[in-house]
Amino acid sequence: MLDSLSLLWLVAMTTSLVSKAQILTPQDYEEEDAESVTTPSAAVLCDYDRCRHLQVSCVELQKVGPVACMCPGLSREDQQPDPPRLGEVHIVAEEGRATVHWCAPFSPVNHYWLLLRESNGAPQKTGPFNATVRRAELNGLKTGGTYVLCVVATNDAGESHVPGADGEGPENWAGSSFGPCGKLIVPPRPATLVHAAVGVGTALALLSCAALVWHFCLRERWGCPRRQSRAQASEGL
Ligand SMILES: *[C@@H]1O[C@H](CO)[C@@H](O)[C@H](O)[C@H]1NC(C)=O
Repeated sequence: MLDSLSLLWLVAMTTSLVSKAQILTPQDYEEEDAESVTTPSAAVLCDYDRCRHLQVSCVELQKVGPVACMCPGLSREDQQPDPPRLGEVHIVAEEGRATVHWCAPFSPVNHYWLLLRESNGAPQKTGPFNATVRRAELNGLKTGGTYVLCVVATNDAGESHVPGADGEGPENWAGSSFGPCGKLIVPPRPATLVHAAVGVGTALALLSCAALVWHFCLRERWGCPRRQSRAQASEGL
């Protein structure tokens, strides 16, 4: 009886010891290390620039980087992305094209689109561009044309907000300088400017000719006082 009791006690002691030992297995230490590595206390920012062309996502950088780094916080994956920010637009008027730059929003993004709308026309879509892209070319722009250009980000939950797409007037499209939209004014072709200058010059020359002709015709009709007086004088001789 006493033996079986002490045996039970022994069994209880060993099991409790074993379970305590399990709590502190090396596996646990590893897991703790892994956790402390991924916590933001590492305080090194990832080399992630949301405006850089062909920028891989910050999560990818964290996966492949030699040292642990921190990423900016993103909006939720089950929400549509925030609007991207339209950056510099470089217009080559002679070739009717423009290079458009933008910056990623702080949201998960699958693709980007460019929306181009000419004054009253329907918006033209360009793309899609993958999530690393921050720069794209627009072609077929009309010289002297005025457009509104917007960058749209999409993810599984939907598309980023485009001002003007839901009843706001197009004049509000390009309202904010840090928004997804901007006005695109394609200057007239230099050749057009030369033509215009030649045209204006010709018009001015014609106008002054007409003024001269008109002036002399009037003088012919009403007579020139000096010539009349000279004529009178010669008659008198
Ligand atoms: C994204 O698009 C760019 C430009 O078209 C291309 O160079 C790059 O390989 C693409 N990246 C992926 C992950 O598809």
